[in-house]
Amino acid sequence: MKIGILNGGGDCPGLNAVTHGVVGAAHKLGWQTVGVIDGLEGILKGDLMPMDPFETPSIMKLGGTVIGTANRGPFSAKTGEGDVRQIPRELIEQVRESMSQNGIDALVAVGGDGTLTAGLQLHEAGIPVVGVPKTIDNDLEATAMTFGFDSAVTCVVDALDRLYWTALSHKRVMVVEVMGRHAGWIALFGGLGGGAQVILIPEIPFSFEKVAEVVQERERRGKHATLVVVAEGAKTVGGEAIYRAKDSVGEHRLGGLGDVVGERIEELSGKETRAVKLGHLQRGGSPTSWDRILATRFGVHAVRLIEKRQFGRMVNYQSYHVGDVSIADAVDHLKLVDPQGQVVDSARAVGISFGD
Ligand code: F6P
Repeated sequence: MKIGILNGGGDCPGLNAVTHGVVGAAHKLGWQTVGVIDGLEGILKGDLMPMDPFETPSIMKLGGTVIGTANRGPFSAKTGEGDVRQIPRELIEQVRESMSQNGIDALVAVGGDGTLTAGLQLHEAGIPVVGVPKTIDNDLEATAMTFGFDSAVTCVVDALDRLYWTALSHKRVMVVEVMGRHAGWIALFGGLGGGAQVILIPEIPFSFEKVAEVVQERERRGKHATLVVVAEGAKTVGGEAIYRAKDSVGEHRLGGLGDVVGERIEELSGKETRAVKLGHLQRGGSPTSWDRILATRFGVHAVRLIEKRQFGRMVNYQSYHVGDVSIADAVDHLKLVDPQGQVVDSARAVGISFGD
């Protein structure tokens, strides 16, 4: 038995740990694993990397991914706007042929909604595929946690811890823009863990005036430094997300909202404000111990699914248990922050404003 493991979509701390889990569990069964270089297209090109089970414990600690990934190309089954594309039949046939030429019996597809949608289309065409969810945004309904999220939150908390001191020294407002296209999980957890006074997320429309009021009220109480965390996809009441121009493949990119929020706060509150965009720092670096463990467990479970020939399933994590769901049920279901939920309630209870 030979397994091919591939990544799709943006990188995410923990991808190497999934590879480690797959390679180790496969080796125990006497199976081989090959890494498919740079996503599904690597299969067609025959770009395969034999994985050594005695090497993967060390790559598990590394950031990024040793086998590469791709978030564009013919296998992109979803656009950044959420539209589903059907992978052309001839490409699917080429994958089947290439797998058989290279002796690959099953694929582990590690990725977000787009990659899982592509994996589902391969599965429906009879190619043996299991899925592993990946997103630092933690916005897949079918799993309570995705690996990479904890590392991203740790990065935000670290940034806030650093920025607090300079904000305090200069009596400034510091705005920190974090990732989170549709869901505000990174902003919510990062802001809560990093002691922010304001958290702006896509699920709770905010007003600049309310944010400025928080800053002014703190000023009156002698608190001259304020930390504001803003998710890149946050929206004002009745407003739109702030998009940059469409990129080379015609999809909108987010980013830049932090600067806008910073300028408006300064204008409305009169307080000197600086904005920092954390961007891809949140996706870089080594995975936290939590992400290494979760990702390794995900990889191992993917092999268990292949062993039981349960294809078309996606690994998930619920109530301390690594299990699985059908990929068809998992895709297209975003897990958003519940504005009335417990985490938002806890944040409000300790005085955090959502700008609403
Ligand atoms: O994984 C999703 C995400 O982290 C979004 O939060 C962000 O908008 C996007 O990736 C950025 O991706 P890219 O690497 O293409 O700039």
